[in-house]
Amino acid sequence: MRHLMSPLDFSVEELDRLFDLANDIEKNREKYSHACVGKKLATCFYEPSTRTRLSFESAMLSLGGEVLGFSDAASSSAAKGESVSDTIRMISCYSDICAMRHPKEGAPMVASTHSRIPVINAGDGGHQHPTQTLTDLLTIRSLKGRLSDFTIGLCGDLKFGRTVHSLINALSRYDNIKFVFVSPEELRIPEYIIDNLKEKNIPYEEVISLEEVMPKLDLLYMTRVQRERFFNEEDYVRLKDFYILNKEKMVLAKDDMLVLHPLPRVNEISVEVDDDPRAVYFKQVQYGVYVRMALILTLLEIDTTKL
Ligand code: CP
Repeated sequence: MRHLMSPLDFSVEELDRLFDLANDIEKNREKYSHACVGKKLATCFYEPSTRTRLSFESAMLSLGGEVLGFSDAASSSAAKGESVSDTIRMISCYSDICAMRHPKEGAPMVASTHSRIPVINAGDGGHQHPTQTLTDLLTIRSLKGRLSDFTIGLCGDLKFGRTVHSLINALSRYDNIKFVFVSPEELRIPEYIIDNLKEKNIPYEEVISLEEVMPKLDLLYMTRVQRERFFNEEDYVRLKDFYILNKEKMVLAKDDMLVLHPLPRVNEISVEVDDDPRAVYFKQVQYGVYVRMALILTLLEIDTTKL
């Protein structure tokens, strides 16, 4: 039995197979529509979510399976003091696979060690968000045809943004990737990630000005400032509009640069950018369903050759 805690839990070859499967699902939805009949997905969300929880539920329903779960810790027995390890023991009796989001780093990992069913980390605190990374990689691979040879800018809250941390981890395994980290001083990328890049001799630079680096980017990954991880409101208000991607800045970018965003967006991409063909963040959401369908099939070890 396998769990998914980090994008590195899958080898590059396994990810390729997962993305091939996701692309096949995209083209042949009907073929997969009964693949999970009789199977149940539990979504245990101790933190707010729109995309991740609903895309997991949509994915399982599209595979013919069923879903159950909670979307708020306050409506679960966590509010009475139940531990994550006890909760997953219950969930293992009710379902076949579980997607868990938790505000504490490592909570889904703790759950996985007490679980009889595959557990998927659907975001743990400021740590990792592997299924968002699978979504990001599938989007890039589907729209660009490759996952190597890119200069990628990551812009915004690089300190608390778990999607950024997971994506850097994952892209570090592909050839000729250059990272450009664009953030205010207070929201710089954590030192442990920089140390990891240095160890692997992966090129990176840290800058404050987005305009300065726009012309050299092949991909721009925008992120919101993570209000929920700030210790005081004053700092959040000071930093929340530090970057706003607008039409003027897009003029500086390459004609084939892609703009990605894990969403939700707050104010960091002006709505006027949405109509630019380089803005692919809503397409990214659709890829998120396909890749979660592929992930559920893979972790449940469904033989897709027989479909
Ligand atoms: N991208 C993402 O994780 O969105 P949600 O918080 O809405 O799930």
